[in-house]
Amino acid sequence: MQIHAVTIFPAMFQSLTDYGITARAVNSGLLGLNAVDLRNFGQGQHRQLDDRPFGGGPGMVMLAEPIINCVSELRQKLSNDVPVICMSPQGQRLAHRDVCEFAHEEQLILLCGRYEGIDQRALDIIGAQEWSIGDYVLSGGELAAMVLIDAIVRQLPGALGNEHSSENESFSNGLLDCVHYTRPQTVQNISVPQVLVSGDHQAIRHWRLKQSIGRTWLKRPDLLESLELDEEQRQALKEFQNEYDEQRKS
Ligand code: ADE
Repeated sequence: MQIHAVTIFPAMFQSLTDYGITARAVNSGLLGLNAVDLRNFGQGQHRQLDDRPFGGGPGMVMLAEPIINCVSELRQKLSNDVPVICMSPQGQRLAHRDVCEFAHEEQLILLCGRYEGIDQRALDIIGAQEWSIGDYVLSGGELAAMVLIDAIVRQLPGALGNEHSSENESFSNGLLDCVHYTRPQTVQNISVPQVLVSGDHQAIRHWRLKQSIGRTWLKRPDLLESLELDEEQRQALKEFQNEYDEQRKS
């Protein structure tokens, strides 16, 4: 997969190339990451990229033409139908299923806005889809684009050391992940749940399902509402709720 990030701060994307799973994906050729410096498309001697908003008001707006020209050049090189995603707090809120869909694209262009935003005509002409990573405002689209790239990379086959590790993580089945423990077996008098050291794989699998569904019920009941639970999941939830009630009483 190739991702092209259009930005006035291309160096920000270097951290993806330098650290962790995204770095490994880039180094192994699984992900091509191309940070395109929008300044090269700026206007006039000063390579201007922004101007004051029509109608007045604070801040600056990103000029339409540098963005249109930059995206046209990329699409000419790649293909005319490469999707363009504009990171924006006004966009559709990104969820796990959207990330999985983006991971199927061969090429993506991510537009990173700064200042008050981008001249709407650029977005209309390009046919950009606007996506938000949450209901808060960042100083620019770069961090949001990096979040999206990181989440996409985790879904690329072969990106994670263990081929199954993205299957069990939070949201992959609509539930939060279960709790995790590692050595030592006791920390400040708190021992890991006995079942995890029992060697009974069936019991461990069921316990993890119970924790996963129980934690979702406690922390994100909204996620449970949109799920059809199967028989084992319903049973696991009942067990978790009973144990939770017992603990609260004692
Ligand atoms: N740019 C600024 N804030 C953003 C957000 N919440 N999501 C995506 N892009 C943004």
